[in-house]
Amino acid sequence: MDSKLQVLYSAQQIEQRVTELGKQIDADYKDEPLVVVGVLKGSFLFMADLVRAIKKDVRCDFLRVSSYENDKSSGVVRMDFDLTQSIEGDNLLLIEDIVDTGRTLAFLKEHLHGKKPKSLKVCSLLYKDIGIDNRHLADYVGFEIPNHFVVGYGLDSEGLYRSLPYIGYFPR
Ligand code: IMP
Ligand code: MG
Repeated sequence: MDSKLQVLYSAQQIEQRVTELGKQIDADYKDEPLVVVGVLKGSFLFMADLVRAIKKDVRCDFLRVSSYENDKSSGVVRMDFDLTQSIEGDNLLLIEDIVDTGRTLAFLKEHLHGKKPKSLKVCSLLYKDIGIDNRHLADYVGFEIPNHFVVGYGLDSEGLYRSLPYIGYFPR
């Protein structure tokens, strides 16, 4: 482990929270069919665990956006690749790694609403409190965190650290 990297949430804490989220999602959707859409790349590990914590069968799809350059938000969200199948009339659950400025989610929600799903909800592993009230952008949040740059469990710093089984941060 990187000597300066501090553990924020251990693999065990993450597993426990993901199990809870899965139960809540099952309870909320009951027998309704569900399409789970992961935002690449950051959500890939969270989504893999979450769809297994959700006991009902779900359809899985992915899209990819980018906005970060060298760990700094460029402020512009770019659609790298979009969904390829229709989601019209579907219950959509969008899976994000983290809500920071909220720009990515605001962009994606507007974009996906245009495809006329029956419902659209968002599940974000993390919500970063940066002093803007963006909490409403996500319907389900794994953990609310202070304003740290975090890595691990899918989240990267310049492409690295995604495969760590825990969420860590670099103390300033
Ligand atoms: P937003 O558009 O500012 O909300 O940023 C969302 C995206 O920025 C996330 O999907 C992440 O890919 C990235 N991001 C924001 N904060 C962090 C962080 O602390 N660590 C790693 N990636 C982050
Ligand atoms: Mg991301």
